[in-house]
Amino acid sequence: MTAVRLELRRVYGAYPTGVTVVAGLAGGRPVGIAASSFVPVSLDPPLVSVCVAHTSTTWPSLRGLPRIGISVLGAHQEEVGRRLGARGGDRFAGVDWRATVDGCVLIEGAAAWFECTIEQQVRSGDHDIVVFRVRDLDARPEVAPLVFHASGFRRLSQA
Ligand SMILES: Cc1cc2nc3c(=O)[nH]c(=O)nc-3n(C[C@H](O)[C@H](O)[C@H](O)COP(=O)(O)O)c2cc1C
Repeated sequence: MTAVRLELRRVYGAYPTGVTVVAGLAGGRPVGIAASSFVPVSLDPPLVSVCVAHTSTTWPSLRGLPRIGISVLGAHQEEVGRRLGARGGDRFAGVDWRATVDGCVLIEGAAAWFECTIEQQVRSGDHDIVVFRVRDLDARPEVAPLVFHASGFRRLSQA
């Protein structure tokens, strides 16, 4: 990695985010990735976005699906974040997930869920900004979120 790329990663990483899992059923099997680039975009219409790298080998399997689930991981789900964010391996092995009738794959015990369709994809540098329309959603405010900061998984600490 070039010095400029390393510096960009280091400084981008100063911005704390949550960790989501973007996943769906493809040929009856769950496929998905971890994504920390999730952003709520619009209330009317309800839109959220995720930035997906052009190098993703999983996104081509996801982008054609009629429905895609986005789960906001809880602080207790660091291992799920690691698995879904790792290259290769059986990402869903040992992960507690469920599929909706529409084919969204959602992570059990997550802090929030969105059931989505793809609204728009915008090429932007080496990523696509994928805008999703929210078809259904729910949250469990009692579940503390998992945080990603400075290239590591963190938990919120009460001041
Ligand atoms: C905490 C975390 C956050 C990630 N966020 C993103 C993201 O926002 N966008 C993205 O394209 N990849 C992200 N990744 C990488 C993907 O989860 C995945 O590893 C990558 O797409 C390569 O796998 P694939 O070739 O199967 O797609 C993240 C990984 C981790 C561990």
